[in-house]
Amino acid sequence: MNKLVFKSEAALNEVAAGIIAGLLQTKPDAVLGLATGGTPVGIYKELVRLYAEGKVSFRKASAFNLDEYVGLPPDHPESYRSYMQKHLYDHIDMPPENRHIPDGNAPDPEAESRRYDELLERVGRIDLQLLGIGHNGHIGFNEPGPALIGATHVARLSDKTRQANSRYFPSLSDVPEKAITMGVGTILKARRILLVAKGADKAEIIRKALYGPITTEVPASLLQTHPGLTVLLTEDAAG
Ligand code: PGA
Repeated sequence: MNKLVFKSEAALNEVAAGIIAGLLQTKPDAVLGLATGGTPVGIYKELVRLYAEGKVSFRKASAFNLDEYVGLPPDHPESYRSYMQKHLYDHIDMPPENRHIPDGNAPDPEAESRRYDELLERVGRIDLQLLGIGHNGHIGFNEPGPALIGATHVARLSDKTRQANSRYFPSLSDVPEKAITMGVGTILKARRILLVAKGADKAEIIRKALYGPITTEVPASLLQTHPGLTVLLTEDAAG
């Protein structure tokens, strides 16, 4: 594991975006694994800046998002498709047909999960997977429990996750109960993983995930087994 600790969020965002841009410079057709939530917003902003300055192009790249809520129309303001448009895709040159996000509105979400994994298999391996971490140790929507699922699947959001995400919705009852998420097997197949955490409220779960026992009760602890893991932390998240 390669761990870097930053004095400020701005410094972290710059390095994270630099790692992604560096990959695209050496491998223009790289396959990116992308995440949503509060953590990557500043990283996407930095990538947009690099693109606007002509320092990086996404023209040949493709991307697969980790997850999407079940039951929200794609144009719902809180769908992860809308998030990606707003924070990244509306501002860069990645062709729309290369931007993949599970369809949370598919009539059969289980079949949609299988389609997503098959598509990923056809495109090849994810070169770099960007990941945030939930306060309960979830990655994607792989929530703590006695067992985890390897493939992309329909997951039920934990109460803690729905509570955390309710800040984006009018009320808790508006937060979807299910999501399509890459499974831990899909995530661990990525060549490199960039785990990012910011803020003192993530310090305890980061300590458990990186230095505690590897357990399905802390899904992010499985990342300890990945040979290409880089962790980017702000000082307060590093504890
Ligand atoms: P956050 O979410 O970036 O909004 O903290 C991370 C996650 O739940 O994976």
